[in-house]
Amino acid sequence: MELSVNYLGVTFENPFVLASGPPTANGEMLSRAFAAGWSGAVIKTLIREPVKNLQNRFAGIRFGKDIMAFSNIELLSEQTPEQWYHDIRSLKRDYPEKRIIGSIMGDAKNRAQWLELALGCQDAGADLIELNFSCPHGYPEKGKGAAIGQNAEYSAVITRWLKEEKQLTIPIIPKLTAAVTDITHIGEAVAEAGADGLCAINTIPSLMGFDLKTLKPRPSVAGYTTAGGYSGAGIKPIALRCVSHLAQTPALPVMACGGICSGGDAAEFMLAGAPLVQVCTAVMLHGFAMVTRMKKELLQFMAWHQFSKPGDFIGRMNPLVRAYADLDPHYAVKARVDADKCNGCKICYTSCQDGGYQAIKMERKKAVIHAEKCAGCSLCYLVCPEDAIHMVEL
Ligand SMILES: Cc1cc2nc3c(=O)[nH]c(=O)nc-3n(C[C@H](O)[C@H](O)[C@H](O)COP(=O)(O)O)c2cc1C
Repeated sequence: MELSVNYLGVTFENPFVLASGPPTANGEMLSRAFAAGWSGAVIKTLIREPVKNLQNRFAGIRFGKDIMAFSNIELLSEQTPEQWYHDIRSLKRDYPEKRIIGSIMGDAKNRAQWLELALGCQDAGADLIELNFSCPHGYPEKGKGAAIGQNAEYSAVITRWLKEEKQLTIPIIPKLTAAVTDITHIGEAVAEAGADGLCAINTIPSLMGFDLKTLKPRPSVAGYTTAGGYSGAGIKPIALRCVSHLAQTPALPVMACGGICSGGDAAEFMLAGAPLVQVCTAVMLHGFAMVTRMKKELLQFMAWHQFSKPGDFIGRMNPLVRAYADLDPHYAVKARVDADKCNGCKICYTSCQDGGYQAIKMERKKAVIHAEKCAGCSLCYLVCPEDAIHMVEL
């Protein structure tokens, strides 16, 4: 089986790419990531003005041992563009088979800034360039980051500046934010302006919480906080929606990003149309070595379905994602309990009583469905921890 993919004419040895963030903070980290098996990396976003990061800039929500929701108020690269150009050159020399994606951010109205950073990355050897139109904190208030990605006109103007520059020949990929009414509207505007591909999504605006013992906000910077960017496993469905929609409109090749933690997650985004998947938060929590497991899981999925290469399944599920009005209102299912598996925990009973149709009764310490009351909502199936309930088609 083959894992390599072609994205905008560039071959990646596998679909797993590091997203721009702390794991791609400098060349030394990228070289360790490449040695671990990542096929490429998006560098931490370059910006002309020097970055000084706040201390205490992360917060998270745990579910059991795992951090499912992550929030940050980190800014862009602490390295200067010149340091990055040096690092990109060294990495291209040491890892010619790996792909480096530059990532840049400029002012919304400063053409020269965008061109300088884009050409700098290209001249250093970057294969592709991401345009950061999507960072939700620190920059929007200065008219940058998500302030650009939330405005179709600004996004298109900057994309056009770069596409009109004859010396810039590598593909450019706006990285979009989900914090818009309709991401396909922004996608269409940048496609019209000449974007070669798209990346979706960046972190999502959020306020992580307050510590109820100390009454300090999280994260606390000298007792205060600010809205940050939400990432990690919990944002996967939001990212999947964006990728699936963008893969259909404007149908430019999409790099998926957001909540990808396993080879199975990667397979889902590929089924939704993304040839490449990017990972940030999961690597911050588990390290570069996780790519070995992700590749194995993706290969297992492919073997199960007898896919020999990613091209056999990229985008395959999108025809099944329809408008609500196009779903069959006559389709009917009912819950059925496998009595051998039911342990009488009553979780389904409580959910059905208080969040459903009162269609479950407990009889001799087993859940029993009263078919005439079951409305086929599937809540009991979802909450059963024993896999004892199935929805059966009528
Ligand atoms: C701490 C942190 C810093 C980030 N910095 C950048 C950045 O400099 N540029 C950028 O385009 N995205 C940045 N991101 C966003 C990630 O690239 C990614 O889009 C987002 O975290 C969703 O993916 P994930 O759920 O795999 O983390 C950052 C994310 C985190 C958590």
